[in-house]
Amino acid sequence: MEIKEIILEDLCPQEFIQKKIDEISSVVGEGLAINALSGGVDSSAVTMLGFRALGKRLKTYFIENGLMRENEPQQVVSLFKELGVPVELFDARKLFFTALKGITDPEEKREAITQAFYKEVFGKLVKDSGAKFLLQGTNYTDIEETVAGIKRQHNILEQLGIDTQKQYGYKVIEPLIELRKPAVREVAKVLGLPEAIFGRPPFPGPALATRVIGEVTPERIEIVRKATKIVEEELSATGAFQYLAVLHEDKVTGIRDGKRDFGLQIEVRCWESVDAKTGSPTKLSYDILDRLAQNITQQVPGVVSVTYNITKKPPSTIEVI
Ligand code: XMP
Repeated sequence: MEIKEIILEDLCPQEFIQKKIDEISSVVGEGLAINALSGGVDSSAVTMLGFRALGKRLKTYFIENGLMRENEPQQVVSLFKELGVPVELFDARKLFFTALKGITDPEEKREAITQAFYKEVFGKLVKDSGAKFLLQGTNYTDIEETVAGIKRQHNILEQLGIDTQKQYGYKVIEPLIELRKPAVREVAKVLGLPEAIFGRPPFPGPALATRVIGEVTPERIEIVRKATKIVEEELSATGAFQYLAVLHEDKVTGIRDGKRDFGLQIEVRCWESVDAKTGSPTKLSYDILDRLAQNITQQVPGVVSVTYNITKKPPSTIEVI
C-alpha cells in the first residue's frame, strides 16, 4: 500500500479526527479492538481516537515490559483514568527479559522486542479478549526509516511484508500513518490531551532497550533508568526535541576514593530536530554538562565516565540501537 504523507500545513485536525473515528468504527464494526498505550503522543492520540470510536469495545493496555522509565506505568494509567479512559496494566517483564537474554546485536534486539509485543503479548490479549483488531500509533517517519533499511522500528509490520492476521491472529489499524510527529501533536491537542502528553518528547517503543549497548538485562536497564531520570530532570527546561542517556558496553578505567575503578560509561544525547528525520546536538552550556557529569557519576552506581554526543543525524541516529 502506498502511503501519502499529510503535511502539517495541509492538516485540518477536526476533519482528520472525524475521518479516523468513522474509519475505526466501520472497520471494527460491532467487534472489539485492543491497543497498547505507552503514554507517548502517538499511542495516546490513538487511544483517544479508538475510545471515541468504540467506547468500551476498545480495551487499552499499558504493557509493563520492564523497559520503561521510573514510575511511568503508574503515571500513565492514572493520567488516563482522569481523562475517563480505563487502562489495564499488563505485566510482561519476565517475557521481555527472557526474549532479550543473551542478545547483543541491535537489529536482533529489535526483532526480539517486536516478537515479544506482537506475537506473545498482543497475541495473548486478542485471544483472551476475543478482539480481532489492534490499533496502533505508527507514524510516517517510522515507516520511512524501516523501509530505507536504517533501523527496524518496532511497530512496522505490513510494510515489511508481515501478514499480521496470518502470523499473529489479528488485523492492525494505524490511524496516524500519514502523519509525522508535529502533525500528531496537533491532533493530540485537538483530541483534548493535556500538554504533558501532546508536548511530550518522543520515547521509542522498545523503550530503554534502545539505550543499552550490549545485552539488555534488568540490572543494566536499572542503570540507564537512573541516568535517564537525571538527564530528563536536567534537560527538560532546554525545550530540546529529545534527550536521553545511553549505557555503553565497554568499561573504562576510572578512580574512586583514590583507587582504580574499572567502571561504566554513560553517553548523554540531546537533540534539536523538527521531525526526527534529521537532527543536531543542542549546544548545551558547560555548566549543564558539568552538572550532568557530577550527578550521574555520583548517583548512578558504577559510572565513572559521562560523555556528550556532538554528532548530527545523519550520520548518527537519535537512538544508539
Ligand atoms: P532514530 O534513532 O531512528 O530515531 O534516529 C528516530 C525517532 O524515532 C524514535 N524511535 C522509535 N520509535 N519505535 C518507535 O516507536 C522504534 O522502534 C523506534 N526507534 C527509534 C526515536 O526515539 C526518535 O524519536
